[in-house]
Amino acid sequence: METLLGGLLAFGMAFAVVDACPKYCVCQNLSESLGTLCPSKGLLFVPPDIDRRTVELRLGGNFIIHIGRQDFANMTGLVDLTLSRNTISHIQPFSFLDLESLRSLHLDSNRLPSLGEDTLRGLVNLQHLIVNNNQLGGIADEAFEDFLLTLEDLDLSYNNLHGLPWGSVRRMVNLHQLSLDHNLLDHITEGTFADLQKLARLDLTSNRLQKLPPDPIFAHSQASALTATPFAPPLSFSFGGNPLHCNCELLWLRRLERDDDLETCGSPGGLKGHYFWHVREEEFVCEPPLITQHTHKLLVLEGQAATLKCKAMGDPSPLIHWVAPDDRLVGNSSRTAVYDNGTLDILITTSQDSGAFTCIAANAAGEATATVEVSIVQLPHLSNSTSRTASPKSRLSDITGSSKTSRGGAGSGGGEPPKSPPERAVLVSDVTTTSALVKWSVSKSAPRVKMYQLQYNCSDDEVLIYR
Ligand SMILES: *[C@@H]1O[C@H](CO)[C@@H](O)[C@H](O)[C@H]1NC(C)=O
Ligand SMILES: *[C@@H]1O[C@H](CO)[C@@H](O)[C@H](O)[C@H]1NC(C)=O
Ligand SMILES: *[C@@H]1O[C@H](CO)[C@@H](O)[C@H](O)[C@H]1NC(C)=O
Ligand SMILES: *[C@@H]1O[C@H](CO)[C@@H](O)[C@H](O)[C@H]1NC(C)=O
Ligand SMILES: *[C@@H]1O[C@H](CO)[C@@H](O)[C@H](O)[C@H]1NC(C)=O
Ligand SMILES: *[C@@H]1O[C@H](CO)[C@@H](O)[C@H](O)[C@H]1NC(C)=O
Repeated sequence: METLLGGLLAFGMAFAVVDACPKYCVCQNLSESLGTLCPSKGLLFVPPDIDRRTVELRLGGNFIIHIGRQDFANMTGLVDLTLSRNTISHIQPFSFLDLESLRSLHLDSNRLPSLGEDTLRGLVNLQHLIVNNNQLGGIADEAFEDFLLTLEDLDLSYNNLHGLPWGSVRRMVNLHQLSLDHNLLDHITEGTFADLQKLARLDLTSNRLQKLPPDPIFAHSQASALTATPFAPPLSFSFGGNPLHCNCELLWLRRLERDDDLETCGSPGGLKGHYFWHVREEEFVCEPPLITQHTHKLLVLEGQAATLKCKAMGDPSPLIHWVAPDDRLVGNSSRTAVYDNGTLDILITTSQDSGAFTCIAANAAGEATATVEVSIVQLPHLSNSTSRTASPKSRLSDITGSSKTSRGGAGSGGGEPPKSPPERAVLVSDVTTTSALVKWSVSKSAPRVKMYQLQYNCSDDEVLIYR
C-alpha cells in the first residue's frame, strides 16, 4: 500500500487515502486539505470518528435526524459543511460553536421547524447559509447575529415563514442573494434594504405580501438599469404570486420600468386579478380616512373606568391616535390602553381626564378628527390625616397621607410628625412598583365605615389618583 501511494504521488496525483476514515466514507487528502465525503451512505447520525482536521465534510442524502454538540466539536478548520437532504429536525444549541472557519453551510431539504438564537452560534465567517425546503415557522431575532457582516447568500425559500428578523437582514451589508420565495411573509419592515448595496438577487415570489416598502434599491431592477454602477449592481427582483394591494402606496413600484412579468393585483375589489403592469397609474388610489363611529360624550365617576371608541374607514386602513385634554398623545400606561381597533381604555380616571379627547385617524391620503367630551364627577378629596379624630367633619373613614416608597411605606403623612405605632390607623407595607399592602383595623367604638378612599401617586402617571 505504502509503495502504491508513493507511486501515485510520484505520478503527480495530489491526493492520498487517509488512514482514519469513518466507515462507509471516503476521505481524501486533496492538496493538503482533508475532505470527508459520506454522501447517501444511509447514515443515521454524524459519524463520531471524523478527523477533526477535515476541511470539507459532505453528509448529504443520509437519514440524520439530530445534530448534537459533539458532532462538529473541534472542527476549527472546516470550511464547507453539507447536511442537505437528511431528516434533521433538531439542532442542539451551540452545535456549530467551533466552526469558526466555516464559509458554507447547507441545511436544505430537512425538517427544521425553527432556528433558535443559539442554533447558528459561532459561525463567525459564514458566507453561504442555505436552509430552503425545511419547515421553518420562526427564526429568533438573534439567530443570524454572528455572521451579519460576512453573509453573502441567504436562502430561506420554501418554508413556512410569516416573518423574519428584518432588523438583522438590514445589517447584512455584504448580502448578494436573498431568496425568500414560497413562504407566508405578509410584511417587510421599511428600510430593510436601505444598506444592502451589494444585493444582486431578491426573490419574494409567492408570499402573502400586499405591499412592499419603497426603497431606492428597486430602481436597480429596471429594464434599462441605467442607474447600475459597479458599486450598485443591477438587481434581479421577483415578486409575482403576491396578493398586491394596488393603491397609492404601490404607485412607486408601478412607475418602475420593468419587463412585464405576470404580477397581478389582489385588491382592491375593482382591480383584483388585473395584471399589475396593465393597471394605469391613475387607478392606484388611496382613500382619506373617514370617521364612521365614535363616542360623543361620557360622564364618569372619578376612579372608575372609561372606554372611548373611534372607528374610521379609508384606504390604506387608517391608524388611530388619541390626544388628551392637555394636548398630550395618549399611549399605553398603567392607567390607559390604546388598542389597534381605535378604542382607548382609561382604566382609572382622574380629574385631569375632564375635557375634550381628540381621536385622530390618519393614513397616506390624509387625516380626520373627532372629539369626545369627557366629564369626570369628582370624589371628595379628603385631607391628609392618619388619625380618626383629625378629620372630625368627615363622615367617611380614615385616610392615610402620602405613602412614598422612600419612607418605607410606613403610611404616616408627609410633613406631620410621626406618631407612635399603636396610634396609626392605616399601615402601608410591601410597597412595590405595582402593588402595596394597606391595612387598617376597625374598632367597634368607631362610627360605621361607609367608604374607603385610596389616594396614591404613581410615578408612571404623574398624577394623584383617587379611588
Ligand atoms: C495531508 O497530507 C499532507 C502532506 O501531503 C500532510 O502534511 C497532512 O498531515 C495530511 N493531512 C491529513 C489530515 O492526513
Ligand atoms: C475537543 O478537544 C477537547 C480539548 O482538546 C477535548 O477534550 C475533546 O474531547 C475534543 N472533542 C472531540 C469531540 O473531539
Ligand atoms: C397597547 O397595548 C395593547 C395590548 O394591551 C396593544 O394591543 C397595543 O398595540 C398597544 N398600543 C400601543 C400604542 O403600543
Ligand atoms: C378593541 O379591542 C379591545 C382589545 O382587543 C377590545 O377589548 C375592544 O372591545 C375592542 N373594541 C371594539 C370597538 O371593537
Ligand atoms: C396629601 O399630602 C401630599 C404630600 O404631603 C400632598 O401632595 C397632597 O396634595 C395632599 N392631599 C390632599 C388631598 O391634601
Ligand atoms: C407624583 O409623583 C411624581 C414622581 O415622584 C411627581 O413628579 C409628581 O409631581 C407627583 N404628583 C403629585 C400630584 O403629587
